Amino acid sequence: MNQIKNINQKLEPFGGNSTGKYTADSTRYNNMIYRRCGRSGILLPAISLGLWHNFGSIDPFANFIQIAHKAFDSGITHFDLANNYGPAYGSAEENFGRILKHGLGAYRDELIISTKAGYDMWAGPYGNFGSRKYLMASLDQSLKRMGLDYVDIFYSHRPDPETPFEETMGALVDIVRQGKALYIGISNYNAGQTQQALEILKEHRVPCLIHQARYSMFDRWTEPELLPLLKEEGVGMIAFSPLAQGLLSDRYLHGIPENSRAARSISLTKNQITPEVLGKIGKLNQIASERGQTLAEMALAWLLRNDLVTSVLIGASSVPQLSDNLKALENAQFSMEELNKIESILN
Ligand SMILES: NC(=O)c1ccc[n+]([C@@H]2O[C@H](COP(=O)([O-])OP(=O)(O)OC[C@H]3O[C@@H](n4cnc5c(N)ncnc54)[C@H](OP(=O)(O)O)[C@@H]3O)[C@@H](O)[C@H]2O)c1
Repeated sequence: MNQIKNINQKLEPFGGNSTGKYTADSTRYNNMIYRRCGRSGILLPAISLGLWHNFGSIDPFANFIQIAHKAFDSGITHFDLANNYGPAYGSAEENFGRILKHGLGAYRDELIISTKAGYDMWAGPYGNFGSRKYLMASLDQSLKRMGLDYVDIFYSHRPDPETPFEETMGALVDIVRQGKALYIGISNYNAGQTQQALEILKEHRVPCLIHQARYSMFDRWTEPELLPLLKEEGVGMIAFSPLAQGLLSDRYLHGIPENSRAARSISLTKNQITPEVLGKIGKLNQIASERGQTLAEMALAWLLRNDLVTSVLIGASSVPQLSDNLKALENAQFSMEELNKIESILN
């Protein structure tokens, strides 16, 4: 009895009810916008939450469970993971499993949970890239860590130059047929590789639901070929690192905060914050404030004005950041003059 009381006490600050479990806000679907993912039956929230950073074993549980609850309470139904998100590898999935157990899991049928395999995960020749052996074993591990029977989307995280696409795509198809994933996604495939992958999937009559690619004001590689291809093929597109890991916000306008990604992580480094980049951020920030937005809000709105983008996949290290990002939906219209000004800064 005492033990149950203690657990409940621990849960209360994270949004518990009298049983200590999280209950979702009944107004959660009032303000989110949902967009159709390619030519599929799935609608995704315009803003999705990624767990690459801030949800690992080095991060405070009290903070990230609040971020997850705030997300779902705001209509974010899509949570994106990968086998090696952390650090440590696997710990973001384990932590997400804990969050599900603490109440979010009661809403499983309202959630789109994705995971991936393709980058370094475990030692030896079978813990990386795109073999059938790796993808199958990795998804089994991910399901165990999260305490799930299936994920909604399973991705090949990157193309493998040494494994035939037939093998990688064949593994994804079989994973769907086994019921361990409902849909297939690919990530970091360029336009030519995407075309090849889609052809193989079509032969198997298991379509690709979605492509996950880096896309922000600062990284527009997808625009010339990939986005038109996805449109033609009816595949959805989810844009990762839409804030260029925080550069497209006011985070670095006045120096490098101690707790920021640039100060803490290897995925964004201090030397990427050059005077040239800061100059662009400052000018973009000015346009955002003229629009009555923060730069983060404007950077997300700028992506969402394009209906080829199904969803923007953000990260957040705090509830206020997430709340700020959600406000992007309040003004996603741009005048031609604003677009031209932005274009001249980006070029
Ligand atoms: N498929 C792939 O290969 C791949 C690769 C990368 C990412 N992804 C996915 O995409 C997701 C998002 O990536 P990302 O975290 O790089 O996205 P992002 O949204 O570009 O960057 C998130 C970071 O920006 C800062 N930030 C967020 N909102 C802010 C705001 N309103 N004001 C000021 N700063 C703000 C925070 O940095 P601080 O930590 O400094 O506060 C936050 O951690 C990942 O979690 C993952 O699911 C996929």
